Amino acid sequence: MKKTARAPANIAFIKYWGKKDAQLRIPLNDSISMNLSAAYSETTVEFSKNYPKDDIVLKGGVFSAKERTRITAHLDRIRAKAGIHTYARVVTKNSFPKSAGIASSASGFAALTLAASASAGLPMSERELTILARLGSGSAARSIPDGFVRWKTAESPRQSYAYSLYPPDYWDMRDILVIVSSSDKEVSSTDAHAKAETSPRLPARLAAIPSRIARITDALARKDFTAFGEVLEEDCLDMHAVAQSQTPPLAYFTPTTRAILAAVTRLRREGIAAYATVDAGPNVHVICQGRDENVVKNKVQSASGVQRVLINKPALGARLVSAHLF
Ligand code: DP6
Repeated sequence: MKKTARAPANIAFIKYWGKKDAQLRIPLNDSISMNLSAAYSETTVEFSKNYPKDDIVLKGGVFSAKERTRITAHLDRIRAKAGIHTYARVVTKNSFPKSAGIASSASGFAALTLAASASAGLPMSERELTILARLGSGSAARSIPDGFVRWKTAESPRQSYAYSLYPPDYWDMRDILVIVSSSDKEVSSTDAHAKAETSPRLPARLAAIPSRIARITDALARKDFTAFGEVLEEDCLDMHAVAQSQTPPLAYFTPTTRAILAAVTRLRREGIAAYATVDAGPNVHVICQGRDENVVKNKVQSASGVQRVLINKPALGARLVSAHLF
């Protein structure tokens, strides 16, 4: 049966960096994120004996051989669970261009997990979907539940799942996603995670995480934006300190990234509560409250080297939708 799912990208407030188990994608630490309304993937899957092999299409782009292998491996997991042996046709598209440098693995594997498991007729709880999505890409686990989400590390693979902390309308936040032009060659985050343990800074990061999780959870519960923003920036800079001290070192910030981070600091001096975070790339996610959207947007989009700005609100997690892509 043909099924289509839509799933959002997410921005990590407390980052996932490094894995306890690379195969099972069990993270070294818990992470907390928010789903993004304007950055999402849609994927249609159909398993059928009419297909002589898996046929995987990215609308408006091309998957590399490595990406195809990763998608096929995920389809194999779902086939094994469902006890089916048929190949699938998979058509997917992103709401953002591939060249924008927005990681599509979270939204992509979340949408693929939901569409493929529904197409295979697998009954799955939300928790099970997060566990399965995690095996495709760790951060995809957080794109299944709604709104503000926590993904747990665990000793056993069945216990490393994600769950919603709050629905999207809990807090009128914005992620002003500043897309930075970059000619840098990207290192896949899978390879980057594998080298986290070479950083001498990793033990200090892991020791600091439980208190950061507690502080940000408390700030979310109290809707204390300043406390929230301070933890957000602390964890971002710490993750990048680890990345930059890995072997080989990974420096994701470009001069434009730094210029935007400086603009955000200036905004705060002017009395606007805006805080910034950066994932494994040069783009900057400027987090503010809804009432400050325009002033923050106007400030950051004028920096030189900015390609475009995408305004995100907190969003629902993965959902089945009725409009198929083929
Ligand atoms: C910096 O989820 O892309 O965005 O599990 O290997 O697919 P894999 O890694 P991925 O890593 C995301 C890293 C990050 C931080 C985060 O989203 O928490």
